[in-house]
Amino acid sequence: MECFEINGQKKLKGVVSISGAKNAAVAIIPAAIVANGVSVIENLPAIEDVTSLMQTLDLLGAKCTMTDESTLIIDARKVNSCVATDESVRKIRASYYLMGALLGRFGRAEVALPGGCNFGERPIDQHLKGFRMMGAKIDTTGDDRIIKLEVNGRLHGANIYLDVASVGATINIMIAAATASGRTVIENAAKEPHIVDTANFLNMLGANIKGAGTDVIRINGMDRLHGGEYTIIPDQIEAGTYMICGAITGGDITVKNLIPKHMDSLTAKLEEMGCRVIEGDDYIRIISDSRLCATNIKTMVYPGFPTDLQPQITALLAVADGTSVVVENVWENRYQYIDELKKFGVCVEIRGREAVIKGVSGLKGADVSATDLRAGAAMIIAALAAEGRSTIDNIRFIDRGYANIEEKLRFLGADIKRVSKNS
Ligand code: EPU
Repeated sequence: MECFEINGQKKLKGVVSISGAKNAAVAIIPAAIVANGVSVIENLPAIEDVTSLMQTLDLLGAKCTMTDESTLIIDARKVNSCVATDESVRKIRASYYLMGALLGRFGRAEVALPGGCNFGERPIDQHLKGFRMMGAKIDTTGDDRIIKLEVNGRLHGANIYLDVASVGATINIMIAAATASGRTVIENAAKEPHIVDTANFLNMLGANIKGAGTDVIRINGMDRLHGGEYTIIPDQIEAGTYMICGAITGGDITVKNLIPKHMDSLTAKLEEMGCRVIEGDDYIRIISDSRLCATNIKTMVYPGFPTDLQPQITALLAVADGTSVVVENVWENRYQYIDELKKFGVCVEIRGREAVIKGVSGLKGADVSATDLRAGAAMIIAALAAEGRSTIDNIRFIDRGYANIEEKLRFLGADIKRVSKNS
């Protein structure tokens, strides 16, 4: 068991480069098997979720080869199984994309129900509704939380209205519809950058998807997709996490290799709080040279403020001058980390979906646990600002989604090391 040890209150300075987007990578890797071809995927982040998905694809018969730290070749011609029920499948939430990919290519899929971060009820009813409307029969009655999907022949196009603008359902239906017969229309689709990225990837494989990034996506199904080469977009949430690290430490950092437009909601909030933000074509510089002031945040689907930055911004608001209110609109229970955050001396009260944060003038080091991936990032942010030494355990959650985080932070001047828990 490893943990991070952080000695706080070092002002971060310098340049940090953002890796490929986790939530695009975990969709694009399974999506590759909808094609009967070889895909080369570049700019993959070096994270545990990618490793787990490669293991799963290998079990299905696809040959996965990393040619360097960020380039993966997937030979999907060799896929010879539609059964993804191994333990590695349950490890990550995005395994649900195997349903769309296998169903689209072979008309059959057997997939273990997903695991991943746990913050309340995480239904997949909208994914299943979409597959049903495209002709799939779905059996969820078996033991061991395995979903079996089957279509007689080939999936057909359908008009699918999503009751919630779900990222996962939008992507899963898009993958399945890429090779369905006829036209599929997804209404009330989610618009996150990784949805556009997955659509661009599928189009590069020969799919015909239009409207990704708007709330109506139209897909004309193709008989067959081929291989190709694709580069994943930078990670919006990783970029936002570093911007907040710069802001909380009174630092001056340049976060490079990002798409500034994806950061608009966070940039606006950091400016409201008093940070200076300078935008270039592919970088954002954050200068934080005075105490920041409180602000209010409501999480929303893109282009609203991302729920995946909610724990991190809450850590920042904890030391802002005044009272802030955060409203979590996407997940019903994404405040499980608050008890851990309080150990740093944070003053926060949870009222249902709201967190009311009374800014304090400083935090003190604490021994805390990461309760999920973004909660882990929030613990790091608080520890960077806190006086003295902090430790964060359960960092396997953080490794699931942040590439080389301690190296990147050390490079910016943070005093952080990964230590074995018993050392
Ligand atoms: N929902 C339903 N029915 C469904 C699907 C979703 O009711 O069939 C509800 C959920 O309960 C939730 C809301 O819709 O309240 C949004 O869920 P969504 O499907 O958009 O989430 P997801 O696809 O499971 C992805 C990211 C999450 C991120 C959310 C929201 C991946 C692998 N995960 O999850 O990322 O929080 O979108 O943006 O893409 C993370 O990276 O830390 C993370 C948790």
